Amino acid sequence: MPVLEATSSRLLTELCGARAQGDELFSVLTPEAMYLRPIAERHRVIFYLGHLDGFDSIQICREGLGQKSPDPGLDDLFQAGIDPDAGQLPKDTASDWPSVEQVKAYVERCRRRVDDSLEQVPEEAVQMALEHRLMHLETLAYMFHNFPFDSKRAPRTYNPALTGGADRANEWRAIPGGEAVLGQRRGASFGWDNEYGEVRSQIPEFRVQRFPVSNGEYLQFVRAGAALPHFWIQKDERLFHRGMFAEIPLPLDGPVYVTELEAEAYAAWLGKRLMSEGEFHRAAYGTPSGENRPYPWGVSPPSHEHGNFDFKAWDPESIYATPAGDSAFGVSQLVGNGWEWTSTPFGPFPGFEQRPSYPGYSSNFFDNEHYVLKGGSSRTAARLLRPSFRNWFRRDYPYLYGKFRCVDR
Ligand SMILES: [Fe+2]
Repeated sequence: MPVLEATSSRLLTELCGARAQGDELFSVLTPEAMYLRPIAERHRVIFYLGHLDGFDSIQICREGLGQKSPDPGLDDLFQAGIDPDAGQLPKDTASDWPSVEQVKAYVERCRRRVDDSLEQVPEEAVQMALEHRLMHLETLAYMFHNFPFDSKRAPRTYNPALTGGADRANEWRAIPGGEAVLGQRRGASFGWDNEYGEVRSQIPEFRVQRFPVSNGEYLQFVRAGAALPHFWIQKDERLFHRGMFAEIPLPLDGPVYVTELEAEAYAAWLGKRLMSEGEFHRAAYGTPSGENRPYPWGVSPPSHEHGNFDFKAWDPESIYATPAGDSAFGVSQLVGNGWEWTSTPFGPFPGFEQRPSYPGYSSNFFDNEHYVLKGGSSRTAARLLRPSFRNWFRRDYPYLYGKFRCVDR
């Protein structure tokens, strides 16, 4: 495996950037909120403060280089997150955890040890640590989203992009039959275990909605009797989108954030269905000429003109905001502004192998209870927008930034 040399400064810059992004994220919480648990199935926030850097030092220094840790007890405490079955919620109390000062001192020790070791470890270990942190920055944003507004201090730059604009009727795009390429070849570039094994499949032609289903469209479904999505708040007769730091009058042209079950029910109500993982690839990366491209808009690196991702905003933006990111078949916002639910249960590609340094990363979730999401949200880092990257959640999990669109049966 290549040892960090020419790429070390780029990776180190990315790692420092991700650390700073995380420090900024934690700083929006009031001190009391650090010991709260806004999502019943997840750890208290304080765990994550120690986990991001504890993970790095465990993977890079202890496991990667065989160094003895000065903090074995704290390493144990901060090593792994949780995803319990319903009815088996965590029972720890706030007083079971060390003080913020103690955890911050642990974080500093971890960072120093990691920085001193970077030159000696395989590049893959650093990429893994970096992406692990970036993924947590997104799931932490979901968690912080669920804190009451008085537990958070909005950054001075906070300015919700959604202003209650109008929506128009969704359009349909025809996607001709052709080859979708899922996953990537082993050894091609960094990826998580579930991305490996390149799968080429023929996707028959289908028709798909050009835009993600908007709040305005979903409102019709609610009026027909469906329940309010988690991200909606009703006050008397008025509806709001639950923003990160404020309630926003329901923007009819924003993507509706829902669970996979809600998305499926909406599609069935219209007489339609959700996209499969293969159909997503075809619509997003396919072209009329048959070649596949790394991004819906082509080959240029992701920029905020192409979509709402890479920490562009704290909330979704209008589904009409980024036509520069349309795919070759004219489908908008497949990447960014919310992950796209698919109808595909999360599972391994042929030849799946666990990564020895992180064996349960994916295989703990091959249970037909978790569904694949593709694309990315406003809080998804640019490096996770590669086509082979796969996200997954329980189909009834309401807290993620998950949108969808319909396919003609
Ligand atoms: Fe983790």
